[in-house]
Parts: sequence; structure tokens; C-alpha cells
Amino acid sequence: MESYYLDWANLLLRWVHVITAIAWIGASFYFVMLDNSLEKPQDPESLDKGVGGEQWAVHGGGFYNMQKYALAPKKLPDHLHWSYWESYSTWLTGFALFTMSYLWNASTYLIDKSKMDWQPGAAIGVALAFFVVFWMAYDAICQLFGQRKNGDTIVGVLVALLVAAAAWLACHWFAGRAAFLLVGAMMATTMSGNVFFWIIPGQRKNVAALREGKPVDPIHGARGKQRSVHNTYFTLPVLFAMLSNHYSFTYTHKYNWVVLLLIMLGGAAIRQFFVVRHRFKLGNAGNPLPYAMLGVVVLGLTIVWMRPEPTPEPAPGAAVQKVSYGEVQKVLEQRCYMCHGAAVQMKNVRLDTPADVTQHAQGIYQQAVVTKIMPMNNATQITDAERALLGKWFQDGAVTK
Ligand code: HEC
Repeated sequence: MESYYLDWANLLLRWVHVITAIAWIGASFYFVMLDNSLEKPQDPESLDKGVGGEQWAVHGGGFYNMQKYALAPKKLPDHLHWSYWESYSTWLTGFALFTMSYLWNASTYLIDKSKMDWQPGAAIGVALAFFVVFWMAYDAICQLFGQRKNGDTIVGVLVALLVAAAAWLACHWFAGRAAFLLVGAMMATTMSGNVFFWIIPGQRKNVAALREGKPVDPIHGARGKQRSVHNTYFTLPVLFAMLSNHYSFTYTHKYNWVVLLLIMLGGAAIRQFFVVRHRFKLGNAGNPLPYAMLGVVVLGLTIVWMRPEPTPEPAPGAAVQKVSYGEVQKVLEQRCYMCHGAAVQMKNVRLDTPADVTQHAQGIYQQAVVTKIMPMNNATQITDAERALLGKWFQDGAVTK
């Protein structure tokens, strides 16, 4: 019963997490597009008000005229729309989900004994440290180099190296699936940290200054903008990391940390294409196509590099024998009963009677043969030959007699 309610809690948290993430990232994409699409207003009245750029848009049957003030309007209206709850609620639900899925059952999901054989408490502590240490290192890089000449390039290179180091460590210390998620969650935490520690406080200072009739210090806007630009480049890499648990061929690869970094690089390059595209259309930037091409080439090379070795065909005329249930049962007993037997039934899957095996035959095939997600983190060290045996048994009709 307990696991039934936990499943519901997981479902509801994940649902809310995706909804708030869409709201956050949707608004963030919109404002990046808006900022890059602004044109100098023609209307003298707007120029007089201090409008630095504007966009005319048609949407949902109406015409919209978005105006951005060069620094700030002369007088602020009483009501201002703020954007931060989308970010905070995405982080809160995401962290709860991560705790529930990976930290709560650390020995199943977080730890892979073949990589690092440690106690759950130690593994959990180190996983949590990833969030804090990455944020602190990233924040220090931005503060030290952000406002210098060529600051953006220095920060970009250093942050990329930091992500690479984190990916390498995570993939060497944790189960692949957890490692990918951890790296994504760590970057996403930094995105929310940017909103919480810099963007919103800076905006609050600006608003307070304006309300008191004092001059606005442009540093808050510049800092906020810098962090918001970083968030945009993190977005596609983070989204891949969040989805990666559906694609075991990525996180179970021998060099899974390289796979993660290459796909993230492809995502960041493609995001750059979209960022530059709007300015290019207005004649304010060079052609963005090389960024898209870089992204596609990186992903293409990754696909080619990762392709599996072809499996040798059986010699023609070799005896074609059906796999018996007895052989399959032996494999299941040795490799699966530990988590799907009389004592424990992970995900309510039990594999120790013929009726259960028949019911889950498709699942066994999918999980243990095709995607190789099971046994979880290969805790029971199933061999490739045993996987092949299960596969042949399934294709022969999955008999359990
Ligand atoms: C170390 C524990 C462990 C071992 C060993 C293990 N599993 Fe699992 N299994 C799990 C966990 C945990 C889940 C739930 C996975 C999730 O929620 O993503 C699961 C889920 C499943 C599912 C359901 C997947 C779904 O999403 O519906 C199937 C089918 C399955 N396992 C088959 C197997 C087979 C076949 C073996 C042996 C070859 C095996 N498992 C060995 C822990 C294990």
C-alpha cells in the first residue's frame, strides 16, 4: 500500500514539475526572443517616453506592442508583473522528485557498486554537495570575470570546463542514470539560483530606487542580463539530462560522461542559433546558421561514434533450438528474483512464477534485452549471453511450460 501512495506522490510531483518548467522556460524563451527582436521605435512619443526598443506582434486575434525602456520609465506604474514563482516552483518540485526518486532509494538508484561501493549516506551527501559546490564555483567565476573585457568568453569557457568536470565525476561515482540527472539538476539549480540570488534582488533594488526617485544603477540590469543569458544556454542541455532516463543507451555507454557532454554541447549550440536568429533577421547580427550546423554535426558524430558493434549472425545450418523455460527461469532466479521475487517486488513486478513471467514477458524483453535498463544498474551482473538468451526466448514465443 505504501508504494501505491508513493507512486501517486511521484506522479503528482512530476506532473507539477513539468507544468511549472514549461511556464518558466516558455516565458524565458519568450523574453529572449523579445529582447532580440526589438527595433528602435519610429513614433516620437515612444522615443520621448524613453523607449529603447519595441516589437509589434500579432497573437491570438490581437495586436500587441511590447516596449522596452532603455533604462526605466520616468514613473513606474503601481502594478508590475514579476516572474519568479515559475522558477522557484520548478526547483522545489524538481528537488522533491530527485529526493524521492534517487536519494530515498539511494542503494537502488543512486549507487552503482561497480563504480563506487559506498554507503547510502555518503553517496547522498556527495550528490547534494554537487548542487552546492557547482553553484559556488559558477557564481565565483561570474563575479570574478563577468564584468571584465572579454568577460563573456572567459566565463563561457570556465563554466563549460566546470560542467565537464562535474559530468566526469558524477559518471565515475554514481549509477549512469542518476549521474545524468544529477548533472542536469545541478545546472538547473544554478538557473534557479541565478533568479533567486541575482536577477530578482537586482530588480528589487532597481524598483526601490525608482520608487524613491533615485537614479538606477545599471550594474543590476547588466548582471541580471548576464545570468539570464547563461540560463538560456543551460536550458536545452538541462532538458536533455532530464529526459535521458528514458534512453539507457546514452547513460550506460562506457564513456557516458562524453556522451552527456556532447549532447549538451549540441543543445547549447542549437540554442545559440535561436538566440541569434532574431537579431539576424533585423540585421543586427551575423548569420546564425553555423551554430545550428555545429549542433547538428556534433549530434551526428555522436550518433556515429556510439553505434554498437554488429552482432554476428549464427552460422548457416547451425542447430536452431528453442530456448526452454527452464533456462530462462535460471537466469531470472539468479539475476532478477532479488528485486522481483517473493521478498521484494519492485514496481509491483514479480517474476518467480510462470503466470507472472507470462504477464511480464514483454516487459522482461524490453527492460532486460532491448533497453538493458534491468537489472537495475546491473546489480546482479547479468551477462550479454544471458540477455541474448532472454531475447531468443521471447522471440520464440515466450513459453513458460
Ligand atoms: C537491484 C534491483 C533490481 C534487479 C536485480 C532487477 N530489477 Fe527490475 N526493477 C527494479 C526497479 C527499482 C524497478 C522500477 C524502475 C523504475 O521505476 O524506473 C524495476 C522495474 C522493472 C520492470 C518494470 C518496468 C516498468 O517501467 O514498467 C520490469 C519489467 C523489470 N524491472 C524487469 C526486470 C528483469 C527482467 C530483471 C532481471 C533480468 C530485473 N528487473 C532485475 C529493480 C531491479
